[in-house]
Amino acid sequence: MDSSEENQQTQPFFPKSKPFAFYLLPILVLFLAISFSFTKTNYIKIQYLKYTLSPHNLFQALSGFLHTTLKWEKAKQGQPTNPVPSYCVLWMAPFLSGGGYSSEGWSYILALHEHMKKPSFKLAIEHHGDQESVEFWEGLPQNIKNMALELYQTECRMNETVVVCHSEPGAWYPPLFETFPCPPSVYQNFKYVIGRTMFETDRVNPEHVRRCNQMDYVWVPTEFHVSTFIQSGIDPSKVVKIVQPIDVEFFDPFKYKPLDLVSLGKLVIGTNTIALNAGLEKFVFLSVFKWEYRKGWDVLLKAYLKEFAKVDGVALYLLTNPYHTDRDFGNKILEFVEDSGIEEPASGWAPIYVVDTHIAQTDLPRIYKAANAFVLPSRGEGWGRPLVEAMAMSVPVIATNWSGPTEYLSCNNSYPLSVDRMSEVAEGPFKGHLWAEPSVDKLRLLMRHVIDNPIEAKAKGRQGREDMIRRFSPEIVADIVNSHIKHILQDKN
Ligand SMILES: *[C@@H]1O[C@H](CO)[C@@H](O)[C@H](O)[C@H]1NC(C)=O
Ligand SMILES: *[C@@H]1O[C@H](CO)[C@@H](O)[C@H](O)[C@H]1NC(C)=O
Ligand SMILES: *[C@@H]1O[C@H](CO)[C@@H](O)[C@H](O)[C@H]1NC(C)=O
Repeated sequence: MDSSEENQQTQPFFPKSKPFAFYLLPILVLFLAISFSFTKTNYIKIQYLKYTLSPHNLFQALSGFLHTTLKWEKAKQGQPTNPVPSYCVLWMAPFLSGGGYSSEGWSYILALHEHMKKPSFKLAIEHHGDQESVEFWEGLPQNIKNMALELYQTECRMNETVVVCHSEPGAWYPPLFETFPCPPSVYQNFKYVIGRTMFETDRVNPEHVRRCNQMDYVWVPTEFHVSTFIQSGIDPSKVVKIVQPIDVEFFDPFKYKPLDLVSLGKLVIGTNTIALNAGLEKFVFLSVFKWEYRKGWDVLLKAYLKEFAKVDGVALYLLTNPYHTDRDFGNKILEFVEDSGIEEPASGWAPIYVVDTHIAQTDLPRIYKAANAFVLPSRGEGWGRPLVEAMAMSVPVIATNWSGPTEYLSCNNSYPLSVDRMSEVAEGPFKGHLWAEPSVDKLRLLMRHVIDNPIEAKAKGRQGREDMIRRFSPEIVADIVNSHIKHILQDKN
């Protein structure tokens, strides 16, 4: 493969620019523009992979040739005709990874890109903080891919750049694991550096506190985080609440037909009542989560299997994917049921299905659309993205009333699930912190209640969507971010 020749054909993006270096990266699967370098000119040069220019040729990208172009040289010549703001916001997040920070990152970028009326800055993006996933990139809607390619090319001067490091603090400069650092060089080179992060427990550990205090500002999504961050020792003058946007136009129930869940789900327990008797499953509960203890799947299974039997005509669909575990969710569920000693009802188990295939982002609204209620008895959440997605889709939500989601759950728009007690996190990096133990009994009551009160449930679903539009729609959040940035830029001038 001759990359230099190939590059000469990539004209639409880089007229007459010559590659000045290649990097052979045989291991890294970098398939989109990834990294920066800096020069005395104080410009950020953005390096591109050829794959960004010919997205169909994945194989070439995967084989690992990274291209660099000197796009900044063009910027030094010729003055722009219309006044473009000179300040930049460089947003660095795990854009190409999927997962929480990734979709959160995209939601801000989309909001800012589409809704800033009088922008006080240019927007640039960069991947940072986690592994890239080709599958994830390919599942993104085309308009997002196009926007990404555009924003990768924004030129910024370091001294006029506000960097947003949107990731866990361990990824911040100097990173504790292998990732492209944020900020890309020492903090002082940039106008401001802002950390955007959140945690799911009752506190922030000392190393993370230290890293947060290195930042000029720390953006957190909820009041819960404002108070836990400050209590943990982060400088109160640095902590700013910036709520997360939800794309209420994409997640709009009127735009979609439900996805056929039966064809996607693997039956794990119970019988496939739909096949036996079409229409018996009158009520579908949906949960969406990574397979980790924090998400309270044990609480959900217990409540569901104790409360319901086959005769109830309900079904539970778990849309899940691995989190440091294998994919054998079926056996994990069966083992759990066996160990829990829950007795099989006389009419048989109420069915549980697992959907563990990759669902493209574009199909996600149709999954919510197929559900009568969404349920997530999590022990702690940063924001709870699936919850707000379900709410935007007008699906009534049952969720633990603790941590991030207390920002938006109310008894008008959802079914907040009470907490029995706090418990200590037993393992992992947050060992010893506290999080919530949601009540199994209250969850049983709420799940029964939502079936028995369809009119009320629908009204809450509608209110959920209204609240999402009013508080977290992209226009609203773009305004919040824009005015905060404006404010701090004025401060320093
Ligand atoms: C940034 O640096 C350039 C020169 O490298 C200078 O012209 C420009 O005024 C500086 N911007 C600010 C905001 O200090
Ligand atoms: C949920 O928690 C918040 C904050 O702790 C509390 O103010 C509110 O009353 C709770 N809501 C319900 C319905 O339990
Ligand atoms: C719930 O709705 C009632 C009646 O519309 C209103 O007075 C109350 O403020 C609402 N509560 C919340 C938490 O939004």
